[in-house]
Amino acid sequence: MCGDYSIRSVFDGPTRSLDACPGGPETRRPKARDLIPGTDAEGDTMKLDTIIAGGKVVGPKKTVVADVGIRGQTIVAVGKGLAKANGNGAAIIDAKGRYVIPGAIDVHVHLELPFCGTVSSDDYNSGTKAAARGGVTTVIDFAIPYGKETLQNAVDNWMARADGKACVDYTFHVAITDWARHGKEVPKMVRQGLPTFKQFMIYAKEGWQSDDADIYSALEAMREHNAMLLIHAESSRVLDMLIDRHHNRKEMKKLGARLHAVTRPNFVEAEAIERAVHWCRVTGGKLYIVHMSTAQGADIIRRAQSQGVPVVAETCAQYLVLDDREFSKKDGHLYACCPQIKKPADQKRLWAGLKSGEVCVVSTDTCTFNRKQKAMWKGDWTKIPMGMPGLETLVPIVFTHGVLKKKLTINQLVQKCCYNPARIMGLHPRKGEIKVGADADVAVIHPTKRLKVDWRRMETNADWNPYQGWSLGGFAEHTFCRGNHIVDGYKFVGSNGWGCFLPRKTAGNL
Ligand code: URP
Ligand code: ZN
Ligand code: ZN
Repeated sequence: MCGDYSIRSVFDGPTRSLDACPGGPETRRPKARDLIPGTDAEGDTMKLDTIIAGGKVVGPKKTVVADVGIRGQTIVAVGKGLAKANGNGAAIIDAKGRYVIPGAIDVHVHLELPFCGTVSSDDYNSGTKAAARGGVTTVIDFAIPYGKETLQNAVDNWMARADGKACVDYTFHVAITDWARHGKEVPKMVRQGLPTFKQFMIYAKEGWQSDDADIYSALEAMREHNAMLLIHAESSRVLDMLIDRHHNRKEMKKLGARLHAVTRPNFVEAEAIERAVHWCRVTGGKLYIVHMSTAQGADIIRRAQSQGVPVVAETCAQYLVLDDREFSKKDGHLYACCPQIKKPADQKRLWAGLKSGEVCVVSTDTCTFNRKQKAMWKGDWTKIPMGMPGLETLVPIVFTHGVLKKKLTINQLVQKCCYNPARIMGLHPRKGEIKVGADADVAVIHPTKRLKVDWRRMETNADWNPYQGWSLGGFAEHTFCRGNHIVDGYKFVGSNGWGCFLPRKTAGNL
């Protein structure tokens, strides 16, 4: 079965060589070999800009106490004694007793997204500052075409949103909303470094919905072009019927935001995942289920993987720690996201799936709406802008509720938030691991220090937070993005526009 490392067979068979660096300029990549502390590969005294000294350097499998040496934008040494041999006055970050993890990668975010009659309120500036504070150094957004736009139009629009604003690195999944028009653009997108695509099984009103024929065709194209399809899996016909059935004044008055959960029973997600997995099985195209929220979904993925179907699945932080009782609370409508938060039994199964491997990534589906935007619902749950902030709290949630509660090891946190996202989305070895030659993307985390979540002191534009008042560990004491010190003492100190677009060559490697 799929332990974290065995699921690499789900997509690709044996691990590929790590030498190729998707999107990473080879010139920045010194030869990786064992270094004598304080010297470079040629034996000359090493010039370092920064040394992260004496921390517990966490990999996907192992943790070692070591110094991390950074020159320019790259990790050029990992080993003992770098700080002692610091000949040229490199800046020293004392990481003794801290975890030093690779910069996390949030593979599922929506920044400045026009959606539900408004535009999500975290843009590339506030969203990526929030990311940095949470130790996230790469975000992957979705470039979505509207109306008659082409995939190229969508990518150009999203590039323009990010350009000059992003404080951490970024790339995009390309949303295919009209297969008949967009299908022919797939090879061109792959050539531009965008090998991951997205289809939605719902959202007819937004003009985003794909049917089975579209999904089948897209998966065939994924196989042909060595790309990967991400799917939002919910069963639209049954969902719409249930919404119609309950969309009346009497029930809305009585149940309010609880109707969000009433109309999305678990089988709405499970049936759609089952169907998407079926098309994956028969086409052989790589499939990635986004924001999986149900126990049944995890069971389906586990079974499919054991049969060799090339499918993997992510869950999001909110599905691990929030449940649908939130809808009964005052301001419960704020918690509406799509799919909605489920039951404690689902949380339990998703944590177990992370541990055993069938759930291989934790992301956030960040799609922030503030109170004024959420108030658009006026008692009708179908009008609540769906989504919540999450970038700032991804690693803290997984650290506090996973690692500190012993549901995951610190190495598994790195697998789910750094290494697996990088491998699956074609960013490894440039991202996802602390290694000589990788981008110097690093977060330093205190093992015990907690901060109280308070939206007033956060970088997100949200004027509420789903975890308001929670005491969370795992916020980044320091974050480096390509060598740039962007969080110092838990505070954002980076600059607008530091973030780069990351072209990718492959997708679906585990
Ligand atoms: O609530 C959410 N997730 N909003 C963003 C759209 C989506 O389906 O991912
Ligand atoms: Zn979705
Ligand atoms: Zn989403």
